[in-house]
Amino acid sequence: MMRTRSLVVLCVLVFSCLLLSAAPVPQTSSNQQQPGLFLGTAWYPEQWPESRWDADLQLMQNAGIHFVRIAEFAWSTMEPQEGQYNFDWLEKAVSMAQKHGIFVVMGTPTAAPPAWLTSKYPETLRMEPDGQLVKHGNRQHFDFTNARYREFCRQIATEMAKRFGHNPNVIGWQIDNEYATYSYDPETQRQFQQWLKKKYGTLDSLNQHWTTAYWSQTYDTWEEIPIPVGYNNPGLMLEWKRFVSDTYRSYQKVQIDAIHQYADPRQWITHNFMGWFDGFDHYTVSADLDMASWDNYVGSGHLDPAGQGMTHDLTRGFKRKNFWVMETQPGNVNWHAINNVLDKGEVREMAWGDIGHGADAVGYWQWRSALGGQEQYHGTLVGPDGTPMPLYPEVVQIGADFAKVGDVLRGTSPVAQVAFLYSYDSRWAIDWQKHTKEYDQLANFKSYYRPLRELVDTIDIVNPSAPLDGYKLVVAPNLNLLPEPVAKNLLAFVQAGGHLVLGPRSGMKDEYNALLPERQPGPLAPALGAHVEQYYALDEPVPVAGDFGSAESKIWAELLKSDAPDAKTLETYGKSNGWLDGQPAVITHNYGKGTITYVAAWLPDNAMNSLAKWMVDSSGVKSAFTNVPAGVEVCRRVGKAGDVFIVINHTKQSQKIALPYAMKDQLHGTGSSQEIELQARDVAVLTK
Ligand code: GAL
Repeated sequence: MMRTRSLVVLCVLVFSCLLLSAAPVPQTSSNQQQPGLFLGTAWYPEQWPESRWDADLQLMQNAGIHFVRIAEFAWSTMEPQEGQYNFDWLEKAVSMAQKHGIFVVMGTPTAAPPAWLTSKYPETLRMEPDGQLVKHGNRQHFDFTNARYREFCRQIATEMAKRFGHNPNVIGWQIDNEYATYSYDPETQRQFQQWLKKKYGTLDSLNQHWTTAYWSQTYDTWEEIPIPVGYNNPGLMLEWKRFVSDTYRSYQKVQIDAIHQYADPRQWITHNFMGWFDGFDHYTVSADLDMASWDNYVGSGHLDPAGQGMTHDLTRGFKRKNFWVMETQPGNVNWHAINNVLDKGEVREMAWGDIGHGADAVGYWQWRSALGGQEQYHGTLVGPDGTPMPLYPEVVQIGADFAKVGDVLRGTSPVAQVAFLYSYDSRWAIDWQKHTKEYDQLANFKSYYRPLRELVDTIDIVNPSAPLDGYKLVVAPNLNLLPEPVAKNLLAFVQAGGHLVLGPRSGMKDEYNALLPERQPGPLAPALGAHVEQYYALDEPVPVAGDFGSAESKIWAELLKSDAPDAKTLETYGKSNGWLDGQPAVITHNYGKGTITYVAAWLPDNAMNSLAKWMVDSSGVKSAFTNVPAGVEVCRRVGKAGDVFIVINHTKQSQKIALPYAMKDQLHGTGSSQEIELQARDVAVLTK
């Protein structure tokens, strides 16, 4: 999955017109108990006659569906003319859903401003980099900095909150939908300049941090500073992304505040993010939300458990607690290269992967396709005729699964001994200057994640500034930017006994995206007892050998130099370009009570498997399950009653799995046993 989708979404937009606590299980004021696990769907009652709603809701109820997310694109129906609100239809839909035991997540419709709004106030439309205003007819055509637009957003969110803020059947809110676009209009530029002024105080400081003497970029007034388009000064580019992140946060906050003013505190607020989409810093934009959620689409091809799992763990890390999968594909999408339908059983397998990694809900997009509109080919649960699609029985089974074990999983969440560090600043910095077109940093990230996740039942992915106590092993595959507070955080972790493993390109730049005036890994070099002498983009593979076996390093290699007599070389380069011959490729060093290791080469799977084993063993990371067959995934969620293991057979054959102690399979209702056999794509939910 590794979301090529974000790119696709952006391209479509641009070119077509374009923990550790469980997620809140809020109390509802209705008598109805909320399920331990939610199954749901996106439902668009505004697209159908009211006479049809009950039949739809009945079919949902039959499938064990307990939530619908509604209204997130219904602005023109809720406010057909400026200031004229019509929520009666929506209220009917909400109460009809309630009769079927279906809760509502209310979406604010601000990703799709109506035509009356954008025609009367064209300044609310976003501007493309070439100065063109985006036209009506698609979505996400709004300008996120525009004060008038924000006021319209505040008003519609306020009116919705007034009407539904105490509705017992509304359990939460989704603000907008998949933030993705920017505006390049003069007002956005002015706000960016103001933002910079506030941050830097003086132009001298800005000029110095961005090294603007280079190519005569020196700014004499704030008004001269552009919005970067294409490749530009690395400092300017990074600050633009940070400005965008703060601006989406404040755009969202307008609606959060409006809702808070009228809604019961039991109603939580989320936004549906897009996995690894890198348009803004998700830690920043999540800050004011109660919970994160994301839209989990495979696109072309099939389920990639490591890729999916990694994205769940990323999303769980935004708030460091359980999350929702707000949207996922009922078989197929309509926006990828080949929109194949997932195999029979794969949608259920995927749903359990969601839950295993800490989702408390899985919502299908969408219930039924609109007869018109841009997404006629997308997968649905019922057809245009309103009768079930072939996938529907599989969703019925998921509903039955969730009903069976919802209480077992209620209030449980993943608890990890291993954390990965992911920083948007480093993501951008590397992607802007890859140095080799082959450098796919998410592939590098995954080359660490996959083998480690096969050995341990839980991995957290967190912001490098997050508290790290409680972890035994922290892995930073791409920590290119190393601001001082982060370096301190990492050193404190190692000093206290943790094991920090750094991947290539670590510790190269400061918080302004300027090179550190020292060799990599910058402030961590003394603790490592080594530094990077030079980095090499590889046009030919380089042999490596040592503790992790013999392998060929591709794409990237760094030449390490030991500075401390007790720094240990674990892997060495063989004969290649002369520079690297016989030099260290992996160095480890004890520091304080802990250890710091630098992996200077991009290693292939065989070496990564051994490295992962060494990382786990040398860090004292323990997992209950050992010797799990290939293709079987073990996930652990922890609650008051102890551990709950979700074991998923991702293979197409049945698999026998030895259990660490006698366990009961709550899903199949079997008695206590030390071994289970899982059919292809099947799942077990195990407790003591
Ligand atoms: C999501 C979006 C939905 C729908 C879906 C189709 O990105 O939030 O509204 O377009 O994709 O896959």
